[in-house]
Amino acid sequence: MTMATNETEETGGRNDSEPLISTEVTSSETGRGSRADETVLETRNLDVYYGDEQALQDVSAEIPEHKVTAIIGPSGCGKSTFLRSINRMNDQIDVARADGEVLFHEKNVYDEDVDPVALRRKIGQVFQKPNPFPKSIRDNVAYGLKIQGKEVTDEAIERALKQAALYEEVKDKLNSSGLDLSGGQQQRLCIARAIAPDPEVLLMDEPTSALDPVAASKIEDLISELAREYTVVIVTHNMQQAARISDKTAVFLTGGKLVEFGNTNKIFENPDHQEVEDYITGKFG
Ligand SMILES: Nc1ncnc2c1ncn2[C@@H]1O[C@H](COP(=O)(O)OP(=O)(O)OP(=O)(O)O)[C@@H](O)[C@H]1O
Ligand SMILES: [Mg+2]
Repeated sequence: MTMATNETEETGGRNDSEPLISTEVTSSETGRGSRADETVLETRNLDVYYGDEQALQDVSAEIPEHKVTAIIGPSGCGKSTFLRSINRMNDQIDVARADGEVLFHEKNVYDEDVDPVALRRKIGQVFQKPNPFPKSIRDNVAYGLKIQGKEVTDEAIERALKQAALYEEVKDKLNSSGLDLSGGQQQRLCIARAIAPDPEVLLMDEPTSALDPVAASKIEDLISELAREYTVVIVTHNMQQAARISDKTAVFLTGGKLVEFGNTNKIFENPDHQEVEDYITGKFG
């Protein structure tokens, strides 16, 4: 492996005051950004391997509570791997192995006494492709309540659907199949199912990339709302989306390295690393 040849050029920063991507409507301007950052999740020297292939290299990051953290970077750089390592979804992949630590409230989730199923109740997830169960809308949300051992009441179902900004559209057809909803509605149903057990963290892997712009924009608004109560970590390929909805941005680049992690405004307006600027302005990736 070769070392970076020109450190000053690599970390020299930018002089131009023109932002790379406008961050005018980032949520930090809504007031959330001014709160003191409490770290809820922290990775320390995290390496993840699939067999002999290393997908994450020495990733150390602190994820603040009740904020939206965006994960961006080119295809194959390890974004999904990073998300899956946080709530041990990688356990389900035989060849996957993690070294280093993932601390959730300062407890390493890879400690032997951690129950991954209980962990995933605290750290829920939403995937790229909406995947409601082939059951009624009510039963999809009820599932989320049951796994937490919560009572399934009409009020609890209504609350989760309201939090997912879906209630008004489905209140008269709670017994219809979740699969009969539009793509955007299905994704909000999956969000309702994920928040029904009352997790602390929501991991979202490209949750809007399969949706049309209107449906995507509804989910974006919803994510900003959800961050009042939950910590959100979202993988996105959409730079404008990251700039619009996140407080913090982590930039992974090829080789599974976390190259830069900081306030979204700073990353998009004046990143420290030339490679990050090149990625954000579309010169590669
Ligand atoms: N189940 C798996 N088995 C083996 N290798 C895998 C597996 N999942 C991912 N990898 C490898 O790990 C690396 C990182 O993959 P990952 O899916 O985390 O990337 P990504 O940044 O999410 O990419 P994309 O933007 O395309 O979704 C890639 O080289 C990929 O081939
Ligand atoms: Mg991915």
